[in-house]
Amino acid sequence: MKIFIKTPAEIASMKEGGRRLGIILKELAAFVAPNITTQNLEDRAKELFKKYEVKPSFLGYKGYPAALCTAVNEEVVHAIPCSRILRDGDIISIDAGACYEGLHTDSAITISVGQITPAIKKFISIGEEALSKAISLCRPGVRLEEISAIIEKTITNNGYKPIKELTGHGVGRLLHEDPLVLNYVDKSSPEIILAEGMTFAIEPIYAMGGAEIKTKSDKWTIITADGSLAAQVEHTVAITANSCEILTIRPVI
Ligand code: MF3
Ligand code: CO
Repeated sequence: MKIFIKTPAEIASMKEGGRRLGIILKELAAFVAPNITTQNLEDRAKELFKKYEVKPSFLGYKGYPAALCTAVNEEVVHAIPCSRILRDGDIISIDAGACYEGLHTDSAITISVGQITPAIKKFISIGEEALSKAISLCRPGVRLEEISAIIEKTITNNGYKPIKELTGHGVGRLLHEDPLVLNYVDKSSPEIILAEGMTFAIEPIYAMGGAEIKTKSDKWTIITADGSLAAQVEHTVAITANSCEILTIRPVI
């Protein structure tokens, strides 16, 4: 395992790239509405990546064919934008990576399409709570396992399940770097102590029903085996001298 410690200059590039990614995700969220397709979102994203002069990190990554992952309802992650039409009451996670000055940031949101029920609102909000609690723990000296533990606890205490196969990760020089950032505690994982200059994509990924997943015939799109709802929310964070900084902050627009 090799955890890359980023220089202040690298963190500055990630911060600027992440800022632009935050704007892009916010603009995409504002574009989501009943009756658009996930391909419409992808087309809009391509325009926004051009406008804000960042490269989509996912496009071409291991052959992935799009800038976005657009996972609707039972789709968990890596859902390729397509002709699927968004309906009132759906939820969608939009996941994107941006490359700026050669450095990657990675971020995702789950939002509603039109009106959703209170139960589904709560389901989305628990992922945000898990992520923000995890981020609030990030500082030098903390064990990475503590981050995993708070995510797991927040998800399971509310009756949902983390999807164990899908994890956060180091990010920066590469889209996926060591270490894995698990959304549950695995006593067999190596002990990692957070240190200044580490950068992580923290991404709670969880299901309302069973946590079993399967991959569709497109070889990318991962769905829940029982068809229950799944959600994902993600930020890229940098560990600083005494705490951490969110690099993919989303503006209020
Ligand atoms: N955020 C996703 C992840 O960390 C990145 C998708 S990779 C791609 O797994 F292959 F879909 F591009
Ligand atoms: Co990621």
